[in-house]
Amino acid sequence: MSTSNQNKLKNNCPVGFFDSGVGGLSVYSRFKKALPCENTLYYGDIAHLPYGNKTKEELVGYARGILDFYKTQDVKAVVIACNTSSAQAYDVIKDEYDFRIYPIIQSCAKVIANQNINRIGVFATVATVNSGVYAKELKKYNASLEVLEIACPNWVPIVESGNYTDEKAMLDVKEHLDRMLKFNPNKIILGCTHYPYLLHLLEKYAQKDLFIDPAKIFVDFIKNDLENSDLLNLSQNYGYEKMFVSANPEGFVENSEIFYSVKNKPEIILN
Ligand code: DGL
Repeated sequence: MSTSNQNKLKNNCPVGFFDSGVGGLSVYSRFKKALPCENTLYYGDIAHLPYGNKTKEELVGYARGILDFYKTQDVKAVVIACNTSSAQAYDVIKDEYDFRIYPIIQSCAKVIANQNINRIGVFATVATVNSGVYAKELKKYNASLEVLEIACPNWVPIVESGNYTDEKAMLDVKEHLDRMLKFNPNKIILGCTHYPYLLHLLEKYAQKDLFIDPAKIFVDFIKNDLENSDLLNLSQNYGYEKMFVSANPEGFVENSEIFYSVKNKPEIILN
C-alpha cells in the first residue's frame, strides 16, 4: 500500500476522549463543532467517579485501562478531557502508547499563562490541587505568576446530580468563590471539566469574564497539533461517534444535556 493511502487510513481513525463522567463533554462538544468530520469515541468512567478523591495509583490504573481499550479501537489520538487524570496519570503513561495523547492542563498552560496577568486562581479537585501541576505548568511560561489553587470536593457530585437549585449546593459554590475573590485574581481557571456546568451559579456572584473554561484553548491546541502532524480527517462527511460508560448510561445521558445532546445510549464497558 502506498504511504499516502496508509496516511489516509490513519486520518480516518477515531479520536478517543475520556473523563470520569459528563464533564469532558464540555471539551468534546467544542471539538465536534470545530472538527465535525472527525470520528470520535467518548468514555465516561462513571463507576469510578469522582476521580478527584482517588490516589495517583488508582488514577493511573483507570487511565491505562481506558487507553488500552482505545488501542483496540485503533485511535489516532486520545484526549484526556479530565484535569485530575492529566495532573496525576499523564506523566506516568505518556510514553506507553504509539498514538498522540493530549492532556488538558499541560496543553493549555502556555496560552493561559501568557494572558498578561499576574494573579490567577484555580478551582480544581483535591487530587489536581495536591499534584501542584497547574502552578508548575503555568509558572513554566510566566515565572512571576502568583497562583492560588482551591479544591472544591463537592462540585463534581453537584454536577453529576444535576441538582443546581439545592440550597446547600449553592452555598458551597458561593463560599469557595468568596474565598477565591479575597485573593483578588485577574482570572480564575475552572480547572475541572465539570465546573463549567456551574458557570450559571458562579456568574451570579462574579463577572463572567473572570472565569476561564480551558475547553476552547484546549480544542484549538488539539486542532493545530492534528493539523501539524498531518492527522486531520480530510473526509467531507460528518464523523461517527460512539459513547461508552463504565456504569449508569441513563444518568450519563440525562446529566450531559447542558453541554451535549447524546443521541444513542452509551455502551457499558470495562465494568
Ligand atoms: N472532571 C474531572 C476533572 O477535570 C474529574 C472530576 C472528578 O471526577 O472528580 O478533574
